[in-house]
Amino acid sequence: METDKNLDGQAMLLAELRAIREQLARLELRVDALAGKGAPAEAVIKTFVDGLDEGLGGGIPRGHVVMLGGPSGTMKTSLALYIMQRNRAEDVRGIYVTLEESRESLLKTMTRLGIGTDEDFIVDIGKLRMEHESAEEPRDWLQILKDYLSRRLEKGKLDLVVIDPLNSLYALAGIKDPRKDLFHFFAFLRGIGVTSILIMEAEAEDRFFPNHEDYLADGVLTLDFPKNEVGELSPRLRCVKMRHTEHSREPFRLTFGNGRFAADPWSAKADSNPAR
Ligand SMILES: Nc1ncnc2c1ncn2[C@@H]1O[C@H](COP(=O)(O)OP(=O)(O)OP(=O)(O)O)[C@@H](O)[C@H]1O
Ligand SMILES: [Mg+2]
Repeated sequence: METDKNLDGQAMLLAELRAIREQLARLELRVDALAGKGAPAEAVIKTFVDGLDEGLGGGIPRGHVVMLGGPSGTMKTSLALYIMQRNRAEDVRGIYVTLEESRESLLKTMTRLGIGTDEDFIVDIGKLRMEHESAEEPRDWLQILKDYLSRRLEKGKLDLVVIDPLNSLYALAGIKDPRKDLFHFFAFLRGIGVTSILIMEAEAEDRFFPNHEDYLADGVLTLDFPKNEVGELSPRLRCVKMRHTEHSREPFRLTFGNGRFAADPWSAKADSNPAR
């Protein structure tokens, strides 16, 4: 009995210690950000998620291909739309390629999040098909997308591209060897100098990247709902990888409130989020 109590006490102490350590790490990152350490602002695309940019040392390094993976309903689309809209408000040129949801549906999400009602940056399948030069039924969707992005670049600069979701592109393009085709596609995206956020719908809760897309990408963010969390509705956000940054590996609790996304250390109480 006495031993059990001691063990419980030890576990609690350890949990508290971990929480304090995480809080400390986060404060250090904030202090670094305030002191101007980390990447210079023009070298990154900010996520504008409170807590996440500090965790990334400023934001996503420009030119990176970043996978954003997670199961259904983990707010992948909402988060990507938010990043896009907050950046567009700062003169970052971006386009959002939606392969599953309609423009109207995305517009509804934007309205709900209070992040604008313009939709000229949203490109759906219809628009891609319409602007495709060939009159034939398009088959090579990867090529169509590349052509589209190249044409957009001829018209002016392009900083940020979101593809939501990449899985749909596999299906549309009939990709047989995703790893090989993606290697070339990622090289293309890096070559045109845009920062890309590629959304992946996880096939299973713990199977984010079935074709090892995470190996090919420069950055990997995952969202999930952890098991065994009673009454917990906030998605858990992790930065699994972000080349050329000293990023935090701690999980974050992603919340949205008062028009802002916030990422707080997972172990902290949900109501510690100032955005709520
Ligand atoms: N403030 C909020 N806090 C938590 N969840 C919210 C909030 N606002 C909306 N949601 C929920 O987030 C979900 C929608 O998220 P979104 O469509 O961005 O997810 P997704 O990961 O892109 O899903 P899918 O894989 O189906 O495309 C809905 O279930 C919605 O009810
Ligand atoms: Mg979505």
